[in-house]
Amino acid sequence: MSAQTEGRRLEGKVALITGGARGIGETAARLFVKHGAKVLIADIQDELGHSVCQELQTPDRVNYVHCDVTSESDVQHAVDLAVSLYGKLDIMFNNAGICGSSNTIFDSNNETFKKVMEVVAFGGYLGAKHAARVMVPAKKGCILFTASSVTECFGFGMHEYVMAKCAIVGFAKNLAVELGQYGIRVNCISPFAVATPLMTERFGLTKEKADEVIGSSATLKETALEPEDIAQTALYLASDESKYVSGINLVVDGGYGLTNPTFPMAIKSILFP
Ligand SMILES: NC(=O)c1ccc[n+]([C@@H]2O[C@H](COP(=O)([O-])OP(=O)(O)OC[C@H]3O[C@@H](n4cnc5c(N)ncnc54)[C@H](O)[C@@H]3O)[C@@H](O)[C@H]2O)c1
Repeated sequence: MSAQTEGRRLEGKVALITGGARGIGETAARLFVKHGAKVLIADIQDELGHSVCQELQTPDRVNYVHCDVTSESDVQHAVDLAVSLYGKLDIMFNNAGICGSSNTIFDSNNETFKKVMEVVAFGGYLGAKHAARVMVPAKKGCILFTASSVTECFGFGMHEYVMAKCAIVGFAKNLAVELGQYGIRVNCISPFAVATPLMTERFGLTKEKADEVIGSSATLKETALEPEDIAQTALYLASDESKYVSGINLVVDGGYGLTNPTFPMAIKSILFP
């Protein structure tokens, strides 16, 4: 290992990251490149995707492709492009996502429901299917999904979002069993709320306000969950440091899902109104 590559945890690896034009995916793309990976960013926001690549100024190691994860031909093309640009595919990070709009079962909108299922669940399935197509013959690979802490703690996520993310976790575990025989690992990362555009746009909040809301509801204080923390988790799961880790849903929520604060809150509000 040369001094230049020392400490680079993805040296020589090739990654395809969906939803990589902004938010968690963009942060992961930057971190993966920093750690020596060659990265293909796949997204539907072409201008943003191209600008991330330009900013990184390493055209031999980062590229952008337009890819709507709900389109099988787009996903197939993105996987094939990663292989033709970089010679192989080691890491498929199925991260693209949208959130829903329903607050209750009665105000859920059927079209939004189907769209969230299509992007999150079907899109994740397509990504995994085409990654497996090239990883199985290579007898190695790592498939990652960004799920959500709504897969572990219920009652605060939108129904369509919870359904789609739980579907992904079930699919990832099932797939980990099937693809294990080819040396392919499959894992999920489940973040608590992060103040990315997905969240700020959904609730019409500024980043500062979103951070305030997240911070005040968090179990772990004196710190804040940033996209970088999720990217670091993806880096671990994508690297050989986790070479025997497969089929897990790694929840990154600072302990949020461990507790139910409603009883102490009710006591406090009654005793100290
Ligand atoms: N931000 C949070 O609070 C949070 C919490 C848990 C899980 N997540 C998940 O993290 C992932 C990344 O979200 P984020 O917070 O970075 O949001 P974001 O909105 O900043 O980024 C999502 C990216 O996905 C892309 N995308 C959307 N639909 C697509 C499609 N059909 N095809 C290709 N790309 C598409 C968007 O263009 C965008 O660049 C999502 O799966 C999201 O559900 C986010």
